Amino acid sequence: MKERFTMLLVSALVLTYVSLAAFIVLVFPLSVLVFALMLLLVFRRCLGLFASGAIMLFLGVIPMLEIAWMEQSGFQPFEEIDEYTDHLRDPCGTREAMLLISLAIQITGGCMIVVWILQKKKEREDKMEKKKKFEDILKATGRVGVGNVLAELDRLGFYAAPASTRFHGAHPGGLLQHSLNVYDEAMLVREMQLRMKPEIEARLPPDSIAIAALLHDVCKAEVYKPEQKSRKNSNGEWERYNGYRADYSGFPLGHGEKSVIRLLRWGLEMSDDEIIAIRWHMSGFDLAFQSPEIRSSYGEASDKCPLLAVLRAADGLASHILEA
Ligand SMILES: [Fe+2]
Ligand SMILES: [Fe+2]
Repeated sequence: MKERFTMLLVSALVLTYVSLAAFIVLVFPLSVLVFALMLLLVFRRCLGLFASGAIMLFLGVIPMLEIAWMEQSGFQPFEEIDEYTDHLRDPCGTREAMLLISLAIQITGGCMIVVWILQKKKEREDKMEKKKKFEDILKATGRVGVGNVLAELDRLGFYAAPASTRFHGAHPGGLLQHSLNVYDEAMLVREMQLRMKPEIEARLPPDSIAIAALLHDVCKAEVYKPEQKSRKNSNGEWERYNGYRADYSGFPLGHGEKSVIRLLRWGLEMSDDEIIAIRWHMSGFDLAFQSPEIRSSYGEASDKCPLLAVLRAADGLASHILEA
């Protein structure tokens, strides 16, 4: 009974609103513009800045078209006879008001498109700047094979790849940003450690930090493929979004060991500490089947390689704090 009453009430309300809207549209055609702008306001987030701006540019033309149509057809809804002069008069300057509204809507739409263009330009410049920083730090190490590594990373799509499917850096360019974050964190951790224990400086040269931090996740370069996914938004409603799925079929070799093998194959000159640090940077998460040999190797690496401790700390700080 209660449900039927609610249904009836909702139907009556919808009918009333639709009739009211139809009446307003029939009496004053320009109200279509108001409804369209209201709809645009509601859906502006789904549409995005460019599409919203383009729609506003289009809507801004409607008042102009209406004025042109009225002038051509002779239809004059805004004019009335002045009782004293006996001439036609415009009671409230409606034509000018319509022209102003049209101009305001078009200027707003134009500004939205300009802001979108500037945003895209800034994004492109940021991307180029990050890529340049990544390349410059690696080239500054002077290592044999860096040029080839950079070419291979470009070929695999490293600079546009995400860092994960849904955890840290799950967006285009996330892997590059993560690698730079790990480098910055690792340099800070190194500095603190050398202040407390200066005798390990020879084990933590800056070029080893660069190689280990910037290249520890090259195993991910081609793994994440774009995919349409569903999720609940803040209102509890399901929505579609552009996500990723992991596909390890390209070179199924694990994680840390895959990065090391890949770098060695590409001809990069690496020290033992760099190989050990990259191989074990996932700590206990990357132990193959918990074999005694693997566990002992991991234990030895943790005890004897300060670069591994620095890389693990920097990777954790970057993924769980900076990119969280
Ligand atoms: Fe990793
Ligand atoms: Fe990482």
